[in-house]
Amino acid sequence: MNITPSELGLVARVASLSKHYGSGSTRVTALDGVSVGIRRGQFTAIMGPSGSGKSTLMHIMAGLDSATEGQVWLGDTEITRLGDSELTMIRRRRVGFVFQSFNLVPTLDIEGNILLPFELDGRRPTTQEREWIDTLVDSLGLRDRLRHRPYELSGGQQQRVAIARALGSRPELVFADEPTGNLDSRTGREVLSLLATSASTYGQSIAMVTHDPVAASFADRILFLADGRIVEDRPRSTAAEISELMIGMEARA
Ligand SMILES: Nc1ncnc2c1ncn2[C@@H]1O[C@H](COP(=O)(O)OP(=O)(O)O)[C@@H](O)[C@H]1O
Ligand SMILES: [Mg+2]
Repeated sequence: MNITPSELGLVARVASLSKHYGSGSTRVTALDGVSVGIRRGQFTAIMGPSGSGKSTLMHIMAGLDSATEGQVWLGDTEITRLGDSELTMIRRRRVGFVFQSFNLVPTLDIEGNILLPFELDGRRPTTQEREWIDTLVDSLGLRDRLRHRPYELSGGQQQRVAIARALGSRPELVFADEPTGNLDSRTGREVLSLLATSASTYGQSIAMVTHDPVAASFADRILFLADGRIVEDRPRSTAAEISELMIGMEARA
């Protein structure tokens, strides 16, 4: 009998995952035999230098890109060999995304952007979901912005809209790729606190890619990638501890 990812307390899992781009002399190994689980209800940071495979790992776990070798589970669903339409459905229903560049729809107002995942799924929020979205809108300070367009908001406000959109349907896992990359440090910290609170207060599972030790210090756990491999797996650490670890890793590289 196989033990399921859920029984292990995992919301996502990859086993012996490799990803190669191109072929022959131009072949690039982005991931090289990665095995790791993302724990349910935790805020996990994925760190590593530029080109270490962070985005590739996130994209494959989210069903946005396919593995060359190995296996990928989202919850207890093995998604490794699913087709595009099944993957699209899974992304819509079970995953949320926050990107560095916010990715809001410029022609929709803020409320339209927050409700977009429901729109794409062809349904309206339930009463319970509506209440949750109201809670998010209020706690993110977006109540008086609902009729505005994204361009009328500051970067920090736009990222809060993206967070409300990602959390609104309570997805199994929220992926965030450098979510504070375009924000000033104070606004960035607010966004990180929100993500940390979503995990600690609401049990939202979050996987965040970052190269910023301050951002990673908000996480419950920090995975370090180097050359497509996981080289460290640490519990919550201070920004200073994380910086020191990164400097040590660079010195060994
Ligand atoms: N679509 C692609 N085609 C070719 N090489 C790619 C592609 N995407 C990523 N890579 C390469 O794979 C490696 C890992 O990239 P990436 O996952 O984006 O790293 P990170 O997010 O840590 O900066 C890099 O060497 C990068 O150049
Ligand atoms: Mg990247």
